[in-house]
Amino acid sequence: MDSNQTLPQIDLPLDLIHLGIGQPSSQLLPIKEMEKAAIHCLSKGNNFFLAYGEERGNSNFRETLAGFLSAQYPNKVDPGQLLITNGNSQALDFICTLFTSPGDTVLVEEPSYFLALKIFADHKLNLISIPVDDNGIVTDVLKKKLETLTPTFLYTIPTYHNPASVTLSFKRRQELVEICAKKNLLMVADEVYHLLNYSDDPPPPMGTWSNQCPLISLGSFSKIMAPGLRLGWMHTSVDLVRKMAGSGLLVSGGGFNPFVSEIVNSAICLGFLNTHIKRLKTIYSQRIKIFCTQLRMYLPDQAVFKVPKGGYFIWVKFPDSIDTNDFRKAAQEQNVDFYPGSFFSYKKGLKNYMRLSFAFYDEEFLAEGARRLGKVIMENENH
Ligand SMILES: Cc1ncc(COP(=O)(O)O)c(C=O)c1O
Repeated sequence: MDSNQTLPQIDLPLDLIHLGIGQPSSQLLPIKEMEKAAIHCLSKGNNFFLAYGEERGNSNFRETLAGFLSAQYPNKVDPGQLLITNGNSQALDFICTLFTSPGDTVLVEEPSYFLALKIFADHKLNLISIPVDDNGIVTDVLKKKLETLTPTFLYTIPTYHNPASVTLSFKRRQELVEICAKKNLLMVADEVYHLLNYSDDPPPPMGTWSNQCPLISLGSFSKIMAPGLRLGWMHTSVDLVRKMAGSGLLVSGGGFNPFVSEIVNSAICLGFLNTHIKRLKTIYSQRIKIFCTQLRMYLPDQAVFKVPKGGYFIWVKFPDSIDTNDFRKAAQEQNVDFYPGSFFSYKKGLKNYMRLSFAFYDEEFLAEGARRLGKVIMENENH
């Protein structure tokens, strides 16, 4: 491989290609743009963002963010419906702190984002799963479960799902809103990949329906700019913003991350965020083309996957008789790794799946990773 390539900066053995990792490669972290944005913001001679911030996030930033989102989404976003967070992980933890007690039931998808499952476990929540198919969460199963259960909230990843890569159809979005309204069930929609589409626009984000049922939609700058910013937002009803802004944490500490918010405010106003998202879409689309072609070439025919239309992930299904955990060690020995399907199931099901990502490596590494993975699987199949 070309030794001049920038290797991802993460604590991994040098020769390992870890295809499970879902974060942007270091070449995609926009240091120059952040430098310019920081200078722009720090040289204005105004220091309000060094004070404790407004509990819901400083109003100038919420206005800029609302303007940015309104330009991306089919519907207008009102700054009064936004609450600034430290990203979706913190937002999930905050929601658990505010709205749950240990032992409460929370509905999650099967599969679901494995680290959200960990946050829910930290809060000692009792998880029950609802399956996901090609059109997202299966609303008929949800309806049935709600005949006997009264969960505290439902956690869903509607668009470019992690790990399943599927998107909730428009019809199912409407059904989900109707169900949550009827049952007064809080929907927590993690929309972290919504703005990373590689072909047509996805259906409207769930935040669009935030006045029609109890709903908190979570957005983050982690995937569209940089995870180190630790910055995101909630899009919800004005009432829920008011309620959360009154929490002890926000009243004591002021809004989450006012300093970084102001730098990102400059990055948006200077047009850097729009340009960066366009660049990411071009690069990820190219990676998907190469990676999927190579995977098709090297993986056995029984390994099936769909070409992602957005987000970060490829969710590969093997025949039921296969447990992807069984060949993970052999894969690591051959300097390739992946995340087994069981990570994404709180009951450790989905053993015949694996999650791969194209976010962390460029085409050359992805192609080599696909070749190594195919070799390991073929060798283990023959045993
Ligand atoms: C579905 C989902 N939610 C949340 C996160 C973490 O988001 P943040 O960096 O905003 O905490 C990720 C990151 O992989 C994710 O895939």
